[in-house]
Amino acid sequence: MDSLLHVVSSPRATASLSLALADVFLDAYREAHPTAVVDTFNLWDGTLPAFGPTAVGARAGILAGQELGGPQEEAWAAVTETFERFAGHRHYLFSVPVWNGDMPYLDL
Ligand SMILES: Cc1cc2nc3c(=O)[nH]c(=O)nc-3n(C[C@H](O)[C@H](O)[C@H](O)COP(=O)(O)O)c2cc1C
Repeated sequence: MDSLLHVVSSPRATASLSLALADVFLDAYREAHPTAVVDTFNLWDGTLPAFGPTAVGARAGILAGQELGGPQEEAWAAVTETFERFAGHRHYLFSVPVWNGDMPYLDL
């Protein structure tokens, strides 16, 4: 079945121009794929797990072949769940504002 994940990266909600543009695309997408499931992943809704010291430590543990436990196990479960949500779609739409001449958090 067709499915699309829309990753919303502007924090400006109803004021967001990239989101308004994405909505125009989504109207056309829904018309072309009437049975498709559209999942919206708003990066600002609090569900994106933090990738801080605990998750980084969990990753290192996984790479070293260690069993995780406690907070690291929880952090890695959240990472895995997020990845599976992302990987489970056929199409992707990223609505992205321009910040400092680039995508937010990429202007390193
Ligand atoms: C932190 C920040 C940096 C920005 N940098 C640029 C920029 O480099 N060039 C530009 O044309 N607009 C820049 N803007 C303006 C945004 O691109 C504009 O407000 C756009 O509508 C943001 O997308 P959104 O409406 O989907 O949030 C910046 C806005 C913010 C908040």
